[in-house]
Amino acid sequence: MSGRREAIERAKAHFEELLVEQMDRVERMKAAEDWIDYSMIKTIVIGVVGGDGIGPYISAEAKRVLEQMLKAEVSEGKVEITDVSGLSIEERARAMKAIPDGVLDELKRCHAILKGPLTTPKKGDPWPNLESANVAMRRELDLFANVRPVKVPSQGIDWTFFRENTEGAYILGSRGFNVTDEIAFDFTVTTSQGAERIARLAFEHAKKNGVDRVTAVTKANVIKTSDGKFLELARKVAKDYPEIELDEWFIDIMAAKLVDPKRRTQFRIVVLPNLYGDIITDEAAEFQGGVGTAGSANIGKRYAMFEAIHGSAPRMVEEGRAQYADPSSMMRAAAMLLGHIGFVDKARRLEMALDICGQYERKVVLTGRSDGATGAEFADYVVEALQDPELEARWRSYQ
Ligand code: IPM
Ligand code: MG
Repeated sequence: MSGRREAIERAKAHFEELLVEQMDRVERMKAAEDWIDYSMIKTIVIGVVGGDGIGPYISAEAKRVLEQMLKAEVSEGKVEITDVSGLSIEERARAMKAIPDGVLDELKRCHAILKGPLTTPKKGDPWPNLESANVAMRRELDLFANVRPVKVPSQGIDWTFFRENTEGAYILGSRGFNVTDEIAFDFTVTTSQGAERIARLAFEHAKKNGVDRVTAVTKANVIKTSDGKFLELARKVAKDYPEIELDEWFIDIMAAKLVDPKRRTQFRIVVLPNLYGDIITDEAAEFQGGVGTAGSANIGKRYAMFEAIHGSAPRMVEEGRAQYADPSSMMRAAAMLLGHIGFVDKARRLEMALDICGQYERKVVLTGRSDGATGAEFADYVVEALQDPELEARWRSYQ
């Protein structure tokens, strides 16, 4: 009996610590400064994190494209492109930290980060079971919106997912505990501030792009409290946008309807909690040619990080195929970065070049193996397309 009492007391103490942290976080969200204005910044610093596995290969190609597109701005001192090291799994394991000391300061010196995939250790791996560096970075830099577009124009698919990126099942994902040997507890957290800011961003995006519907996806019929709050806040925000309809779905049927060619084209802008967003965006990217083709923006009021939606593909490295990895996802991420920091025309050009090279013309084709092109050859093709003065006409001919 006393063993049981002790277990409960231990759990209560642990839970109390989590409660204090979450209450402090809510206060910080309330006090958060306003959105950064990139046009006011003298030198915009772009940090490039290579990543693990295929990361350094595909990041190098995306960086090359960025450097090419920002040549003038770099030489005028308006933009600085710099490497941020210290985040490889070996370095994280040595420091026993998701983000080693010093690296976070370096990341905070950047206004925007282009990040290759980083190994996320799990139980049983040769690495210490550290928290995911992605998750830590999203939290530490308060990158609350994970924006993931998926487009397949030939099938009428034009989706933008607004995945809540700092709370839900992820925020305490490494902070659950075993109450006894037999009972494992994890937590999911939704705050009013967290749910409201992601819903508002989704509605603002709808408004800016003339889209008249935002789809909110939860499992609020079962996960009543936290998903219930997420939905409640989406409804509250929707009231400020009378011209935009809020469309409510549960995650299970949403996953099914994405496969239904008649229904899926009706979705445009989707807002959803962290874990559902993680799952659905991998499914969604598959329609576009797989996770290798999808870029992703992690946006906060002060910092922003852009990445591929996929992992580091250790198998490709083990099999000696890293140089054949598709850098499109990282280049899409680079395009989102350019748009986010104010180079909207450059972002569009890169998008067009990627559509032409990866989807329409396909003169250089990647297969992920030696029977296809290397990532570097594909990047050369993209760079060449970017230099074409007729790029836009070439792109239009496929619309
Ligand atoms: C993603 C990834 C990450 C996530 C992993 C690597 C922690 O799957 O960006 O979608 O779950 O968010
Ligand atoms: Mg994922």
